[in-house]
Amino acid sequence: MAKAVAVIPGDGIGPEVVGAALTVLDALDVELDYLHANAGLECKRRTGTYLPEATLAAVREADAVLFGAITSPLASEDPHYTSVILALRNELDAYANVRPARDLGQPCLAKGLDLVLVRENSEGMYNAPETEDEEGVTTHRRISRRGSERVIRFAFEWAQRRGRKQLHCLHKANVLRKSDGLFLSTFRETAKAFPRITAKEMLLDNAAMQLVLRPQQFDMLVTMNLYGDVLSDEMAGLVGGLGFAPSGSFGPRAALFEPVHGSAPDIAGKGVANPCGAILSAAMMLEYLGHGAEAHRVEAAVRAALGEGTTPDAGGTLSTEAFTAAVVANLK
Ligand code: NAD
Ligand code: IPM
Ligand code: MN
Repeated sequence: MAKAVAVIPGDGIGPEVVGAALTVLDALDVELDYLHANAGLECKRRTGTYLPEATLAAVREADAVLFGAITSPLASEDPHYTSVILALRNELDAYANVRPARDLGQPCLAKGLDLVLVRENSEGMYNAPETEDEEGVTTHRRISRRGSERVIRFAFEWAQRRGRKQLHCLHKANVLRKSDGLFLSTFRETAKAFPRITAKEMLLDNAAMQLVLRPQQFDMLVTMNLYGDVLSDEMAGLVGGLGFAPSGSFGPRAALFEPVHGSAPDIAGKGVANPCGAILSAAMMLEYLGHGAEAHRVEAAVRAALGEGTTPDAGGTLSTEAFTAAVVANLK
């Protein structure tokens, strides 16, 4: 039976890059049932809600979600806004956020890089209330044993299945001795079940510097939520910028695939957004849905298209549409 994919293009360049990913998917030998759905700021302006019930129903029904990006309203526009993408990830309990950074032939700082970050996606500062008093605001941050164990195990299993050699745990257990300490001790404990993967540790601040200086020393990284958010943009910067970075957020029943970038209001509507992050997210989705060979075809076609030209963010002159057409033309 064909797998069901909920498609949520969102705001800004979201619809442009998701449109490109759908064009590539349509050119393949796969049958997918699409559930088209809306969410985000434009959706709120049109329908009065950021995340309609029908969208949540589509997400609950789907085997996978393909998501673009959403513009967060300014605090002046909506002081009570809570993030739509976080609500969607939570709906799926999508606890493991996989963010690869790879040199596919685009102009980039880290030649030959093939690095994967696994970010804890369900706790940390993202899923705890911020409390206010007269003096200021306190941000709560939850690190649980179960939350740490499941994402660290996911990272080791990902490494093992793909023949990776080494997994670094990035942390600040020197200061946050209890919370990051729990993540780190869980890492050490979990590592015992994966003797073929070399388990390494590094303090987060040093790792941020090492990533710039000597990124090739890393194979895979696992870390907590906010740290992973920041480092994944840094990693995207190593391989040509945000336009090239895909991601998948995996839960027990389904997974959500989205480019790492946001809605890029500065370039929205101009037809110049780089669709690589979205197309490569669709390739990750194909692999997840059991179409590994088609996923490889897409990656190879992106690589070939990048040899011919790029969108302006990478120094080229191609429009989103022209680059996407080049990917389709290179599908072997
Ligand atoms: P952004 O990722 O949208 O853009 C950062 C910079 O990278 C911009 O200069 C943009 O033009 C460029 N860029 C991003 N994607 C690109 C692409 N595909 N091709 C070419 N250039 C690209 O981040 P931002 O400007 O900090 O945020 C804009 C909005 O997006 C905010 O409202 C933010 O909250 C939201 N956001 C949403 C998500 C999401 O929905 N998943 C993720 C990040 C940011
Ligand atoms: C990302 C984004 C989101 C995050 C925001 C928009 C909630 O920055 O996908 O990286 O921090 O996860
Ligand atoms: Mn981010």
